[in-house]
Amino acid sequence: MSLSFHFHGHGTYTVNVDGVKLLIDPFFTNNPGADVTGENVEADFILVTHGHYDHVGDLVPVARRLGVLVICNVEIAGWLARQGVEKTHAGHIGGGYRHPFGYLKFTMAHHGSGLPDGSYGGNPAGFLLRTDRYRVYLAGDTALFSDMQFMADENLDLAVLPIGDNFTMGPDDALRAATWVKARNYIPVHYSTWPPIVQDGPAWCRAVEAQTGARAHCLKAGDVWTLQA
Ligand code: NI
Ligand code: MN
Repeated sequence: MSLSFHFHGHGTYTVNVDGVKLLIDPFFTNNPGADVTGENVEADFILVTHGHYDHVGDLVPVARRLGVLVICNVEIAGWLARQGVEKTHAGHIGGGYRHPFGYLKFTMAHHGSGLPDGSYGGNPAGFLLRTDRYRVYLAGDTALFSDMQFMADENLDLAVLPIGDNFTMGPDDALRAATWVKARNYIPVHYSTWPPIVQDGPAWCRAVEAQTGARAHCLKAGDVWTLQA
């Protein structure tokens, strides 16, 4: 049993659960910190939270090259099919499905989801992953919303929260989110990629640890965090 998180910069990362690599929101081209490229990234499944360019920028070529299942909303699955990517599993907010790596549920996110070519991208989402051993909440791009409090029931090992402000929760709202979801570990994402979302990640991590007693892990692109059992 193992759980690790490999940060690729911005809102792109790989969650490795029991040896299965889940690549979230492949965006490498024009991702200033990316430690891998669309040509060499590896994955067993691809998860997509929403249609914005900084989450699907490299999705089509990576999905074509790897030929792995892409888990996304119905509208993005349709957009992928029109580009020859047929191997998709479509879901929607509130719905979960038991995949080989665990039960994955689409969670609410308050954001947008328009695709780069102007196509309708459905509703944005986050993900809740439940395996026999682990519980992980990937908030996606979202504002703070009060239903996040229900995540406290999940007994989360890890919550991944955006802290960049401007497009998503900023540090203060993300700190409030952390006090609500009550995970044992936090990783901040979606900040300091570009000027409008520059934030002090280490300061946020210190604030979370001081206020919640949980651990918060400030990662650079290329860093891998592993849950210590
Ligand atoms: Ni977005
Ligand atoms: Mn984004």
